[in-house]
Amino acid sequence: MTYIQVTGGKKLHGDIEIQGSKNAVLPILAASLLHNGVTTIHHCPIISDVECMIRILECIGCKVKKEHSTLIVDASQLNSYRIPDEYVSRMRSSIILLGPLLGRQHFVTISYPGGCTIGARPIDLHVKGLRRLNVDIVEANELLTCMTTKLQGNEVNLSFPSVGATENILLAAVLAEGTTCINNVAKEPEIEELCRFLQNMGAKIKGIGTDTLVVEGVKQADLHDSEFTVKADRIVTGTYMAAVAATGGKVFLRGAVKEHMEEVIQVVDQMGCITKATPEGILINQKARPNAYDLLRTKPYPGFPTDLQSPFMAALSIAKGNSILIENIFEARYKVVKELLAMGANIEIDGKVAIVRGVNALKGAAVRSYELRGGAALVIAGLVAKGVTNIHSISYIQRGYEDICGDLQKLGANILYRQEEADQE
Ligand code: EPZ
Repeated sequence: MTYIQVTGGKKLHGDIEIQGSKNAVLPILAASLLHNGVTTIHHCPIISDVECMIRILECIGCKVKKEHSTLIVDASQLNSYRIPDEYVSRMRSSIILLGPLLGRQHFVTISYPGGCTIGARPIDLHVKGLRRLNVDIVEANELLTCMTTKLQGNEVNLSFPSVGATENILLAAVLAEGTTCINNVAKEPEIEELCRFLQNMGAKIKGIGTDTLVVEGVKQADLHDSEFTVKADRIVTGTYMAAVAATGGKVFLRGAVKEHMEEVIQVVDQMGCITKATPEGILINQKARPNAYDLLRTKPYPGFPTDLQSPFMAALSIAKGNSILIENIFEARYKVVKELLAMGANIEIDGKVAIVRGVNALKGAAVRSYELRGGAALVIAGLVAKGVTNIHSISYIQRGYEDICGDLQKLGANILYRQEEADQE
């Protein structure tokens, strides 16, 4: 098995291109099923979650051509109503295929997506919203069977601005008859990108960027071939900002979108960084050991993103002073703490609250990632630790980061992929 080996102590300097957004491209790939033709998507990240989504599309009849970071999806001949179980268990966000497949085929079955290490991740808001659009959903034997004679536009009120539920209901509404009004929608940049992608394909959507999306159903024939370029991944951008805040140095994050990073910029500023945004990206400069951050709460966008909670916990673990983090979105997003403690961090968890007391130094250790963003946090911890850190189970990290080692090597970090001893025999 491959693992990551980091030798800490280097500052980061240089210029790196930020990959396309994982959480934008996954719903956009699902949305390409709405059109019985060809959809071209540029700047797709080459990561295992995208590979998984491509496999699913091919299993249900799509032809997908890859030209480096461009994907060309031909969804003209769908031939299955069943999302293959192996992919649902690997990637729970495959649940957002319900909406487009109901729009296209009026029938879809999918195994119940389990929770994962960050929480139970129920889908009640997805089910409730789709039922409002005249979908019958039968949940039995760990299977969801969804069918409709005709998708009917309706008013849908989300009790929580769930990203996935917003996407699923939006995708089902595109080909519904009549108008759908979705209230209390998620406003993450990925939702705006999905809406722009859908408009570009011929869908009729109003209220983008507000709490309410209004979708006027169109006919299949109104949708057409289209091309779309995905913006830079804001969570990868934020991960590298946390890394520079921790190690010190000066890095230009090419492609980073300032408008998506306001809350994160505010945090790194308080940690002592100087940032400068240009149309080409964001420059971040850290000259000293990071300051602590009094109180960091994760919230739905535009609040501080839950996906950056662990990376910033790692950076704050060596800050001057104590920081308090409150994880409000997922109920089990502190799995990485055990590994950070093994590296000498001083962190206390009390329910949703993490008290991070800054220590002068972490020490290298053998650690393991249990989920995607916790894995990225361990890379950051390794960059600042004294000595060598070996990070195992890096397949989680590869779900969302194209080449975290390559990126950080370009910035001067002493980091590389290694093979486990056993593999070398
Ligand atoms: C998306 O997950 C992202 N994944 C997550 O990124 C991200 O952390 C999350 O949004 C919040 O921003 C993708 O876009 C592929 P939610 P999603 O529905 O859609 C509860 C990463 O690291 N909830 O907004 O699953 C849920 O349990 C991943 O890239 C219900 O109770 O997030 C959670 O507590 C991790 N019922 C909260 O809402 C539902 O029906 C937020 O979930 C749906 C959600």
